[in-house]
Amino acid sequence: MSASARPATRPIVPNFSSGPCAKRPGWTPAALSGAALGRSHRAKVGKAKLNEVITRSKAILGMPADWKLGIVPGSDTGAVEMALWSMLGARGVDVLAWESFGEGWVTDVVKQLKLPDVRTIKADYGRIPDLAQVDWKRDVVFTWNGTTSGARVADGAWIAADREGLAICDATSAAFAMDLAWDKLDVVTWSWQKVLGGEAAHGMLALSPRAVQRLLTYKPAWPLPKLFRMTSGGKVIDGIFEGETINTPSMLAVEDQLDALKWAESIGGLKGLIARSEANLKVLETWVAKSAWAGFLTEDKRYRSCTSICLKVKEPSFARLSPDDQAAAAKKIASLLEKEGVALDIGSYRDAPPGLRIWGGATVETSDMEALTGWLDWAFAQVESEMLAKV
Ligand SMILES: Cc1ncc(COP(=O)(O)O)c(C=O)c1O
Repeated sequence: MSASARPATRPIVPNFSSGPCAKRPGWTPAALSGAALGRSHRAKVGKAKLNEVITRSKAILGMPADWKLGIVPGSDTGAVEMALWSMLGARGVDVLAWESFGEGWVTDVVKQLKLPDVRTIKADYGRIPDLAQVDWKRDVVFTWNGTTSGARVADGAWIAADREGLAICDATSAAFAMDLAWDKLDVVTWSWQKVLGGEAAHGMLALSPRAVQRLLTYKPAWPLPKLFRMTSGGKVIDGIFEGETINTPSMLAVEDQLDALKWAESIGGLKGLIARSEANLKVLETWVAKSAWAGFLTEDKRYRSCTSICLKVKEPSFARLSPDDQAAAAKKIASLLEKEGVALDIGSYRDAPPGLRIWGGATVETSDMEALTGWLDWAFAQVESEMLAKV
């Protein structure tokens, strides 16, 4: 069959967005029917549900028992910024960035907090910086998986076991899809709308005993809004880590997260989640290996993400197009697939090189990923002649 013919099989669920991500297979609004709506989140029922999100998340992720996990405002951004504003300034900071979210944390640390002793360690889209440059006497801020470039750290081996600084890790597109090295981390954050396909709302902030110690022994020089405050009278506010959120949460989103966590348990917990995501990456790796036109933005397999899988066009005529025409051609592939209803929201992130970004987290069925590959070839065949006419 020629690549320009419409494939016979379509993905059943076309949701390949990198956030909010596809709901778990079989999800319907009925999953929310037990939500404690119209009730106080401080009532017994509300607090129990919030606490259940914490305990189930900890268990699935294999978080050490001596860590604290809290539900915080502002999704992953809120969780990361709470940590940065509460903990940084005690020592020098190394901030790592290899795509736009890491860049965002650089901006926070350099331009907003204006810390005097900051080193930024960077790499281009599709690469990981030289991790040997990191100085573990300092606090280190990094993203486990760069969602907009599809590059992730391979593991925690590069993080010093005897570090003096804190390892502050934005793991929003990694948690529930990758093995996080808890013994090498001190602050870990994520949101509900990523790997488990929950509703966007709240952030999760996990703290190691060393991170808690920082909260107890260090007071930043700048004022902290109530939304960020984790201590009171020199003590950690334990309630935050038991379900007493700082401000009012959405009990609808809480119910949805509980549904997602129960689904995660039903498919084998973290092991099952990782296996589903790696299987999705494998489908695209098998397809790319045979493709004349598509390649991975992250060429080094060790660092290739299994969640935010970023593709580039390696067909030589594409490289001869102007940057604007490259962006237009990549957008056209994404919009053709959207119009066909086979893949939604797979254009690369606005700051990333032109290409496609396909979510491969656990909520995406591998059979849908397989069905998508034929359509990717179909869409490229549609734009190829237009592209060739321009060079
Ligand atoms: C690595 C990373 N950090 C931060 C964010 C921001 O997350 P949120 O919008 O949940 O605050 C995202 C969102 O995609 C992300 O992928």
